[in-house]
Amino acid sequence: MSVTIRRVKKEDEEAWTNLWEQYNVFYKRTIPIEVTKKTFERLCDENVRMYGAVAVDNSSQQQIVGFVTWYPHANTSSIEEVVYLNDLFVDPTIRNKGAGRALIEHVADHAKTIPAHHVYWLTQHFNHRAQLLYTKVANKSDYVHYMKSL
Ligand code: ACO
Ligand code: ACO
Repeated sequence: MSVTIRRVKKEDEEAWTNLWEQYNVFYKRTIPIEVTKKTFERLCDENVRMYGAVAVDNSSQQQIVGFVTWYPHANTSSIEEVVYLNDLFVDPTIRNKGAGRALIEHVADHAKTIPAHHVYWLTQHFNHRAQLLYTKVANKSDYVHYMKSL
């Protein structure tokens, strides 16, 4: 199967939400429906610098089989902004066929047009599957991630 990566659009809401819910199951988390709706609205809003793209299978079904989200932000160690890749998911039935790599490349291509200094992302230290891809397309940083709940 080959895929085409394109920006998410309003008509994708049902298909995107379906994949998003699978991603939430993967993360063993529950995201309230109003948050999901707000996130999708932001991804489609030209005035919000939070972006989404989907992988569409090139067969006749044209199904959405993956998604990525990202946003730029200011950085203290470069004049250029940096881009945070927030979410990445590929339908389990089409994994290992290049969709994940293509989604990351799409983000990198957009980041170059900003132009941003670099793209970065986080993953769970035990997500070895994702890291098999990440070590091929990026460098692992030395940093440890902390989160302080408010
Ligand atoms: N040994 C070595 N390499 C392997 C092995 C293996 N056993 N298995 C897979 N790989 C490599 C493949 O060769 C491929 O590399 P290549 O592009 O050089 O051929 C790579 O792993 C997989 O790349 P893709 O096919 O492009 O990735 P895929 O479409 O399978 O998507 C993803 C990867 C997104 C991580 C998918 O597995 C997924 O959705 N997982 C569940 C959710 C998840 O973990 N999301 C990421 C969370 S982190 C974040 O969101 C920033
Ligand atoms: N065993 C146990 N605890 C220890 C020990 C020890 N041997 N030594 C120090 N600590 C604890 C102290 O008890 C204290 O904890 P407490 O508040 O419970 O008493 C804690 O370590 C130190 O806390 P502070 O005094 O509030 O921190 P400090 O003013 O020393 O600043 C900092 C810490 C910013 C990390 C400083 O050491 C520093 O500037 N380091 C170099 C730069 C650096 O590492 N910056 C952070 C990079 S990551 C980032 O920027 C997001």
